Amino acid sequence: MARKFFVGGNWKMNGTRSSIKEIVNNLNSAKLDPNAEVVVAPPALYLHYVRDSLNNGIEVSAQNVYDKPNGAYTGEISVEQLKDSNVTWAILGHSERRTILGETDEVVASKTKFATDGGLSVIWCCGESLEEREAGKTVAVVTKQLDALKAKIGSDWSKIVIAYEPIWAIGTGKVATTEQAQEVHAAIRQWLQEKVDAKAADETRILYGGSVSEKNCKELSKQADIDGFLVGGASLKPAFIDIINSTQ
Ligand code: G3P
Repeated sequence: MARKFFVGGNWKMNGTRSSIKEIVNNLNSAKLDPNAEVVVAPPALYLHYVRDSLNNGIEVSAQNVYDKPNGAYTGEISVEQLKDSNVTWAILGHSERRTILGETDEVVASKTKFATDGGLSVIWCCGESLEEREAGKTVAVVTKQLDALKAKIGSDWSKIVIAYEPIWAIGTGKVATTEQAQEVHAAIRQWLQEKVDAKAADETRILYGGSVSEKNCKELSKQADIDGFLVGGASLKPAFIDIINSTQ
């Protein structure tokens, strides 16, 4: 099965009302590849504005969600509230939340299960640190993260898109080589084949994230197991359009 090319824009904790308006206007007027699925993830405060003003077939994602129903959880946002706001995706397991906010593999898996059971789709992130890569542990680290997710969600991966984001490549301008990225993507697909099933291996999109730019996206997109990108810094710039259109 041909997997639909997917480009996510993770705006992280960036933007103001005026800069976000500019990004939205730019996306609304752009000529986007009709064969690409595009999702942007603004900061929580701007989700409503972006959902209401963005068109061009683009979906909106939260950058986090809590794994409990509505209730007394100060500072959190629920699956129900996101769906009520027409926000259909959530990014979970981003390395910034794992390392800065201390989210464990189990917490990420629990949030992912709660989100997908509630009807959201999830961009689920994994990836190794520089130290782990240099110690030759990349596949072991990613496999451990995948194992923890599978322990919670079982064999239904239909609402999951995997984003492989080597931590050393995030926001550093140091992109993984096409070979480095393809090698890990192939290992993830093999893991899906062996630990889940042929359907999950065939259908699950695996994105690359980490210093993706308009300059390196074309080459990366040609790799057999790279089905799109999760873009940080460049998703705030007009260059994001070129990344969306990278397979054209
Ligand atoms: O989630 C996207 C990300 O972490 C990559 O960020 O700025 O290196 O594209 P950046």
